[in-house]
Amino acid sequence: MTEKSAFPAEFAWGAATAAYQIEGAVHEDGRGESIWDRFCATPGKVRNGESGAIACDFYHRFPDDVRLMRELGLDAFRLSIAWPRILPEGRGKVNQAGLDFYDRLVDELLEQGVTPFPTLYHWDLPQTLEDEGGWAARSTAEAFVGYAEAVAERLGDRVSHWITHNEPWVAAWLGYGSGEHAPGRSNPDDALAAAHHMLLSHGWAAEAIRRVAPGSKIGITLVLNPAYPASDSDADRLAAQHGDGFFNRWFLDPLFRGSYPADILEYFAPSSPSGPPVQDGDLEAISAPLDFLGVNYYSRQVLRANPNGGRPTVVRNPDSSYTAMDWEIYPDGLYDLLVRVKDDYDPPPIYITENGAAYGDHTTHDGEVNDPERRAYIEAHLDAIGRAIEAGVPMAGYFVWSLLDNFEWAHGYSKRFGIVYVDYPTLERVPKASYHWYRDFIAASRNGNGAVKASG
Ligand code: FCB
Repeated sequence: MTEKSAFPAEFAWGAATAAYQIEGAVHEDGRGESIWDRFCATPGKVRNGESGAIACDFYHRFPDDVRLMRELGLDAFRLSIAWPRILPEGRGKVNQAGLDFYDRLVDELLEQGVTPFPTLYHWDLPQTLEDEGGWAARSTAEAFVGYAEAVAERLGDRVSHWITHNEPWVAAWLGYGSGEHAPGRSNPDDALAAAHHMLLSHGWAAEAIRRVAPGSKIGITLVLNPAYPASDSDADRLAAQHGDGFFNRWFLDPLFRGSYPADILEYFAPSSPSGPPVQDGDLEAISAPLDFLGVNYYSRQVLRANPNGGRPTVVRNPDSSYTAMDWEIYPDGLYDLLVRVKDDYDPPPIYITENGAAYGDHTTHDGEVNDPERRAYIEAHLDAIGRAIEAGVPMAGYFVWSLLDNFEWAHGYSKRFGIVYVDYPTLERVPKASYHWYRDFIAASRNGNGAVKASG
């Protein structure tokens, strides 16, 4: 195991959440409809017809939850801002009551010594913008800039770190390509356009935030899914290269190199001959320097070439353990990925902006929640990060997904990722064993660092 002192003294210990998954209060204080409200209300889309209408009721209970963060010893809290609270129609008139909520939340966090890391887009597009074409339309990227400005104008005096987008791969491909997520479209051309417009809006918004709140640190969060070949065969190696290109390079390359990867452009060519809708100047905007990179890591993909051509198939590893999401537990993938991102892209400081595991937790008769698998998962991934730091990767922080059990998108409330259990009927919070373990780990790592500093 890595020495706890592997983590630098300024390493930020955090927990992550997203607005629609925890806030509830969807009709309060002038919030507009989002594509997730609409999707949840569409029969058959979300397990048991569940929705984020109440979720964890964080909107009303946040002072108690911030107290839990302070007791945990968190340095940072990753939240997301709900676009439809700020601009109920997506653009135009700003709803001050929506901004007031985040204003109060930011103040509460700062008072308790927790740095807010807001994400501007964690998938809750205003429905009015979806009705005008959604992310497949360039006008949505323009509207995003107005939204980012309104938020930065209000919070930029206290918020120092901004994440523009969360996992554009998921938002574009599950939202517009497969239809598993809101807005539920299944059109690969729309997905390609959506991904491009999200990246473009990232570049434009970064410029706008820097103008409104100079000195801001701006990043984007990608979900990176390292790809491994199922065998040593050339065909499987190519399959892994394809998987890596489709999930990872498609976003890393434009952000860090200002171009889309040629092999994947070629792959899309037969169905989408014009490729993503790139206009002059777009790639320059997308590749403007980042202050940090956010990486979400959950698992890896093991790929086998498809003998009939087409997309490679995903192979299950009989020797591995899987979480309740049926995601393989593979901490070495995080180490490999971080070293590779360092070698190939020379990135700015990296934050792990999400990492965690779902298990079927329950309270015992004495009201405790024992979740040794989650603790082991987090511990093994922190060990991988420690090794990456020793290998020279510029790691700046770690956010566990998630602080609270919450609304897990199309899975409804069936997947519990929290280090704090939420009893949905009463909304009571019960810190799990992993919460106590994480608190002790953070404290020990701080002490360890102190000793290293004192002797060094
Ligand atoms: C990520 C999402 C996050 C959560 C976790 C489990 O893809 O960003 O909202 O659902 O997965």
